[in-house]
Amino acid sequence: MFSLQILRKLVGGLNKPVTCKIRILPSLEDTISLVKRIEKTGVTAIAVHGRFKEERPRHPVHCDYIQAVAKAVSIPIIANGGSLDLVKTFSDIEEFRKASGASSVMLARAAMWNPSVFSSKGLLPVEMVMEEYLKYAIRYDNHAFNTKYCLCQMLRDKVETPQGKLVQAAQTNAEFSVAYGLHEYFQRVQEEHQNKRDALQSHGLQDRPIMDGDVLTMAVKFERREYPPQITPKMFLLEWSRKEKLEQPFYETVQRTQDRGFQSTVTVAEKKYRSSLWEKSKKFAEQAAAIVCLRMLGIPEGRLGEEDSGLVGKRKREMKRLNCTDEEGGKKRHLVDSPEETKTKKTELVTNGNLHTSNSEQNNS
Ligand SMILES: Cc1cc2nc3c(=O)[nH]c(=O)nc-3n(C[C@H](O)[C@H](O)[C@H](O)COP(=O)(O)O)c2cc1C
Repeated sequence: MFSLQILRKLVGGLNKPVTCKIRILPSLEDTISLVKRIEKTGVTAIAVHGRFKEERPRHPVHCDYIQAVAKAVSIPIIANGGSLDLVKTFSDIEEFRKASGASSVMLARAAMWNPSVFSSKGLLPVEMVMEEYLKYAIRYDNHAFNTKYCLCQMLRDKVETPQGKLVQAAQTNAEFSVAYGLHEYFQRVQEEHQNKRDALQSHGLQDRPIMDGDVLTMAVKFERREYPPQITPKMFLLEWSRKEKLEQPFYETVQRTQDRGFQSTVTVAEKKYRSSLWEKSKKFAEQAAAIVCLRMLGIPEGRLGEEDSGLVGKRKREMKRLNCTDEEGGKKRHLVDSPEETKTKKTELVTNGNLHTSNSEQNNS
């Protein structure tokens, strides 16, 4: 028989235990004969689903067949098929094992209907289990299709209740979280995940330039709080370009569709610079690109604590002239300077690598 050859090959070729699973045959005699031949292939154990080929999961399991098989061979027999009518609680598992004379039990549906069936402390209310399950699904970003399948299995005959209908209509883990009153939990976990992603992205990658085609990239984020109110890296880059009699820095920005994130590339002296991290706004994306350029060229970028530069001094003198505070000065100067501060191109939208021109975030500051 072909399947026996497969088993022999597996047993001979692997250094791991090989087990197999069967359904019972119409006659007990034939079933025992089959199991004995399987035993001879050298498999470690055989799972026996106590139903005939044509029987459906709703039909009762034939414990007598499993018992006869277990007596006929010396390798362990794993009893299977007891979820519907025999196994409801942890203690039922042992009852099923004893009734079928097997050495252990394999459960499928009972575990899906309420996984706490494996808890020796007793069955938990399925509502509590669903909530706990959904928290895991959110935390580990489980595929929504699978989350839905598992929740529907636990809902069983409650799939037509208002909550069941919400689950059936939901397509994402966010929508499931609404159905279970876990939306705040969902939001919190998303924020935590984003923070971890950001930390992972910047940690280790920062300050390591990588060529991406003809663009020099670094994992850099623009943190507003790291700069005085009246100072930005873009201003430093512009000032430096003027001093060097170079063309004004030229910014090109793209926006991706999945999270509306922005990424800018700045061209200075015919060389391109970009941060590999995506920013929430076009403004920030341009600042991040400017930082990459400044760092690559070894030019001060105006960060707090950095050695005072001519530009910071100049801004302070301007503010004194305007007779206003740092914050106000920043705003006033910003209005005056922004038209000439940079040259930018319209933001492009990126969808699966294709570019489209977008009208959003056209500001130049
Ligand atoms: C979602 C699901 C997936 C299954 N996948 C397999 C499978 O891949 N191979 C297999 O032999 N049986 C599979 N089965 C059948 C079960 O292993 C088991 O034989 C059957 O459900 C009877 O056991 P139960 O009463 O504990 O559910 C599956 C059952 C379910 C509910």
